[in-house]
Amino acid sequence: MTNQKIAVARGTSDILPDAIHLWQTIEHQARQIFKKYNYKEIRTPAFEESALFKRSLGQTSDVVNKQLLELSSQKEDSQSPSLALRPEGTASIVRSYIENSVDRKEGLTKLFYIGPMFRGERPQKGRLRQFHQIGVEVIGPQSSHPYLDADVISLSLDLLKSFGLQRSDIKLKINTLGTPQDKEQFSVYLRQSLQKDKSQLCEDCQNRFDRNIFRILDCKNKQCQSIVNKLTFDYSHLSAESLKYYQQLKKALSDLKVDFEESPKLVRGLDYYTHTVFEISAANLGSQDAVGAGGRYNNLVEQLGGNQVDAVGFALGIERILIATEKNQQPAEEHLQSFIIALDEKSLDQSIHILQALRQAGIPSDLNYKITSMKSQMRLADKNKARFVIIIGENELSKEVVAVKDMKEGQQKEISIKGNQFKELIQYLTQI
Ligand code: HAM
Repeated sequence: MTNQKIAVARGTSDILPDAIHLWQTIEHQARQIFKKYNYKEIRTPAFEESALFKRSLGQTSDVVNKQLLELSSQKEDSQSPSLALRPEGTASIVRSYIENSVDRKEGLTKLFYIGPMFRGERPQKGRLRQFHQIGVEVIGPQSSHPYLDADVISLSLDLLKSFGLQRSDIKLKINTLGTPQDKEQFSVYLRQSLQKDKSQLCEDCQNRFDRNIFRILDCKNKQCQSIVNKLTFDYSHLSAESLKYYQQLKKALSDLKVDFEESPKLVRGLDYYTHTVFEISAANLGSQDAVGAGGRYNNLVEQLGGNQVDAVGFALGIERILIATEKNQQPAEEHLQSFIIALDEKSLDQSIHILQALRQAGIPSDLNYKITSMKSQMRLADKNKARFVIIIGENELSKEVVAVKDMKEGQQKEISIKGNQFKELIQYLTQI
């Protein structure tokens, strides 16, 4: 056995008590907004059968191909299916939707989730192996409607606004992929147009050319970008119906006064998307600038064994939101109402009764179980941002009082603790 320290796993991080208020604020704001939009919360397991992700996100997507974190210990038991930590929420929610036959119970199912996701990526600023998403999925038979897509996009912007991201801080990009047939047409067009420059593409894109040609469009390599920039994007691969849907979406967004930028190169990295796709980026995030993204996925429910049911959703990355809002973050305002300082063992005996009574009366209170100097205990009270310090020592015990110092106003007062109810003390601490 060595005593070597073990560090937090690469690409993960602790959320320490000093930062937890930022997370709680975001979660609280999100829940308030979901209530207004009539979304219900769902919590699915952190791991699922690997096949779920492979079938929904696509075997050739980076998320499955390179980043899926499979639970290797499971593989020893050849009877049980292989399991993987969830890299995103959509697949699990569709699995649950089908498993619970929700399509037979409700018209439109509007769900939200908040929780950790896992991807074995190369960590960098804004890119983690465990990160957290706030997401929504709206699933329902024949629910495909440009107004619904526009409403879902508005919701994502409302959420970001409530977290402190102003509209001027972020950019919304939209695009359409059309139906699976339209996507196929588009891939034929891309393959034909990129064929002559294939050898000039980066190594990754040369692979993508055969496996997942759409991903060449969002490659960050300069050479690949300049090749892609020469292509024409005129939506001629879309059917008339898909084009109409897209035009209606743009009109709906304009009607709702949602500014957007049309981005024909936006294809998204997951296979399940059809029709509307969108991405929201924030300026100060560096290369990992997407704070959120989503789109429509009309075939996934059927693909995973359910009925033909339409769906749309998005997910926002909490860590990236926190980076993007860093400059406006306020320190926590939480404080402790009272901190008891016991100056000797006998006083400590009495203090634990006082502590219990205060807590039962709903007064957040604490004490230091170690008898140390007044000065060092005052420091602890300060660290806990205690509004009142209750001092009890030999002198106070003999008079059956405690000395209560109001740390805000600076005044100190003796309060009787005669009898066992500590009523006077409770009254004094609660009237402020
Ligand atoms: P995604 O684009 O893969 O989509 O992820 C959504 C957001 O999660 C990203 O925009 C980013 O903010 C955050 N994110 C993703 N990967 C990481 C990472 N490694 N580290 C930190 N943050 C990350 C989805 O996950 C889809 N399920 C969204 C969706 C829902 N589409 C339809 N419904």
